[in-house]
Amino acid sequence: MWIRTLRLENFRNYERLELELEDGLNFLHGPNGSGKTSVLEAVSYLAVARSLKGASDNEVIRWGQQGFGVGADARSEESSISIVLKYVRGGGKRVTVDGTALTRLSDVVGLLRVAWFCPEDTWVTKGGPAERRRLLDMTLCQLDAGYLRTLADYRRTLRQRNEALLAWTPGAESDRIVDVWTERLVEYGSKVIAARLAFLPRFSIAVARVHQHVAGGGELNLEYRGNVVPAADARSLVDDLPGDVTLAAQHDLVEPVRERFRDALERVSEDERRRGFTLVGPHRGDLEVRLDGRVLRQFGSQGQHRTAAIALKLGEAAVLDEEGHGVIVLLDDILSELDAERGEALVECTSEFGQTLMTSTRLLPEGYAGAGKSAVFRVEGGEVVRQ
Ligand SMILES: Nc1ncnc2c1ncn2[C@@H]1O[C@H](COP(=O)(O)OP(=O)(O)O)[C@@H](O)[C@H]1O
Ligand SMILES: [Mg+2]
Repeated sequence: MWIRTLRLENFRNYERLELELEDGLNFLHGPNGSGKTSVLEAVSYLAVARSLKGASDNEVIRWGQQGFGVGADARSEESSISIVLKYVRGGGKRVTVDGTALTRLSDVVGLLRVAWFCPEDTWVTKGGPAERRRLLDMTLCQLDAGYLRTLADYRRTLRQRNEALLAWTPGAESDRIVDVWTERLVEYGSKVIAARLAFLPRFSIAVARVHQHVAGGGELNLEYRGNVVPAADARSLVDDLPGDVTLAAQHDLVEPVRERFRDALERVSEDERRRGFTLVGPHRGDLEVRLDGRVLRQFGSQGQHRTAAIALKLGEAAVLDEEGHGVIVLLDDILSELDAERGEALVECTSEFGQTLMTSTRLLPEGYAGAGKSAVFRVEGGEVVRQ
């Protein structure tokens, strides 16, 4: 799905905006504070019902207003769709698709698929595991509506189990309450881990390919790390699967993961009761990134982290794009972070995808591959003008 028309109302510094976008590269340039990032943020609301910057819904309402609206007419080769999301301060977000209200907000996720990248993301390989889990989860949620629901169930169960552990006192009644939550934790958590394990091989290949292109060398490899299934064990579970491993293989992995999750919880049972929270599970999972066999987080140079981060994001875009679904790539102010050669390689890479929205304070350098085919917009003070 690619956006033809994007509409904003009382969103950030836009009172009203209607923007006709093109396939291929849409390049938005303008001074700082003019409203470039806000356009990408509006797209993220339509795709995943929230801000890519992690802003609260109230923050993005235009100052002095009571609510905002974003909308898009989107099209793929076979179909078209119209999505509108509205939010009123103090109320919930409501989404309508082709005029029909969705009963669950989360049902919008996956209709428009997006992969976004901003300067802060260049540290995704350097920072803590939470950043990399977020990347994994955002991708999986857009690929698989079941994953989104299971992850939400897991998070809720984890909170409740932690409360039960915190309130635990020696005795059968306390144990019984914890056990109830343990069963559910294992149920949902095993599905989350199974999906991550099944997804990793394909993701790793996509990321390695982009990395080859942007970095011009060096083999990047991804592996899931968690405290439920040890790495070597996870590797053999996945290797034993027949054929090419795709996300569909998650169903075959649930049972073996479940066994291991039960055992892992059993081992930490006393410790958990003493400390008052859940010690093992997918909420502690991580993505290990290796460059030429070595763990990037430990030895990577600034430049290596940067190209690895780009590869992760464009690899994400590539898997979201598979099976002809189409992906919208949002690149916020990223050229300023890159030298000319890498910047050009990045722009060239994005031309593989159906639609890219890229922002910059400067114009796209002359002679960039793809620069000629791009739609260029000037952004200034909440106005966007096609050039
Ligand atoms: N809720 C809001 N209402 C009105 N203006 C806002 C709101 N939030 C941010 N702004 C303003 O919107 C402008 C656009 O921000 P942004 O899209 O981040 O600009 P850019 O990416 O072009 O630097 C900024 O000047 C900011 O002060
Ligand atoms: Mg910005």
